[in-house]
Amino acid sequence: MKLWGGRFEKETNKEVDDFHSSIHFDYRLYRQDILGSIAHATMLGKQGIITPEEAQTICQGLEGILKDIEDGKIEFSTACEDIHMNIEALLIERIGQVGKKLHTGRSRNDQVALDTRMYTKEAICEIIGLLISLEEVLLELAEKHKDTIMPGYTHLQKAQPVTLAHHLMAYFEMFRRDVERLEDSLKRVDIMPLGSGALAGTVYPLDRQMVAQQLGFSTIFRNSMDAVSDRDYILEFLSCASIIMMHLSRFCEELILWSTDEFKFVEMDDSYSTGSSIMPQKKNPDVAELIRGKTGRVYGDLIALLTTMKGLPLAYNKDMQEDKEPLFDGLVTIKNCLSIFIGMLKTIRFYPENMLKQASRGFINATDVADYLVNKGIPFRDAHNIVGRLVLYCIHQGKVLEELTMEEYKQFSDVFQQDIYEAISLINCVNRRSLPGGPSPSAVSQAIEEGCNWLKQKK
Ligand code: ARG
Repeated sequence: MKLWGGRFEKETNKEVDDFHSSIHFDYRLYRQDILGSIAHATMLGKQGIITPEEAQTICQGLEGILKDIEDGKIEFSTACEDIHMNIEALLIERIGQVGKKLHTGRSRNDQVALDTRMYTKEAICEIIGLLISLEEVLLELAEKHKDTIMPGYTHLQKAQPVTLAHHLMAYFEMFRRDVERLEDSLKRVDIMPLGSGALAGTVYPLDRQMVAQQLGFSTIFRNSMDAVSDRDYILEFLSCASIIMMHLSRFCEELILWSTDEFKFVEMDDSYSTGSSIMPQKKNPDVAELIRGKTGRVYGDLIALLTTMKGLPLAYNKDMQEDKEPLFDGLVTIKNCLSIFIGMLKTIRFYPENMLKQASRGFINATDVADYLVNKGIPFRDAHNIVGRLVLYCIHQGKVLEELTMEEYKQFSDVFQQDIYEAISLINCVNRRSLPGGPSPSAVSQAIEEGCNWLKQKK
């Protein structure tokens, strides 16, 4: 018979049993469920709601179940619906009547909220850990490539010269905000719901603070209906995960582009690439493409749960059981993606000479010619126009700006002098951009140092 079978005259339809049972995915919550139950039972004992001996028997029973699950000795049953009732049924089977006292002053509604909160807290910490490892790799690479000049793009058209270090540090900053976003979200997950019962609290003199403390929560819920019926903490986690995936995906897109023969700025290691079944010459950046692809999947997890939640009246509704698969799927996906991305980035080979070669074409220093004229007293708008005409002239002549003779320069403005050549050398163009936040090696060194200090605090 079902744990809730008292009021029923008929067995559940088999198809319904399969349909509403969630054990095939929520078994993942077994550890959180057992730890939560141990804390609840200990508190019931201390408050005299059950005897201390009963509490001890329950806790020992639960510990035995935890060990057996971890040793792979337990097979869960669909008839028991979910992880909460599977464990309770196992407990009663093992310790008898006293096991039936565990659920005093508790509902599956506050229980499942507790378990998923514990799970989400751990998930957040795991993702922060992976992001920190990624940040370390980025800092190392940036340190090595402070002087590696490459084209910077807007509209995917060559724009101005930057350094590879500066480009990589842009991602460092994005992932740093991702870490901070996750840390901030932790505050809102870290609230203990037990004691809220099904929706309206409970009549037993529970010590909610004690349970919170035992389970490592900073605080308890102020409203029992809120505690059992919101899933905003999962949504917030999935939002953070979606933003991280979006950052990863953009990075992957660049690495894919950069590994084409047309760019050849990077080459993925053989161990992170795959071949084609028909074209023998191919070496494909499948890993980066798959991460880019899986981004859609994590967005899907977020949208699925947002949609599930949008029309639900307070308090608990069974729809909310649909929170778990997006949570689990989102977590596994982002974990795998981050971990494999770190490996890929560590083994990637950069080709600074190709970056420099590409930066030397395409009039990437045209702004610097304009700035040169401004320096000689010409208003910026006029300077812009002069250089525009210069570039057009170069295109017609098949030359770049560095290749023009002094005579040619003079045809466009008589303020041009010999020092123009130095002013537009790529290295000088980069070095001059030394404001905080700029690409010059000195500015990037400061950003790296600041990043290292931040990272040290995190470890
Ligand atoms: N498996 C359920 C879920 O995940 C547990 C809560 C069930 N509560 C209920 N009243 N049916 O949402």
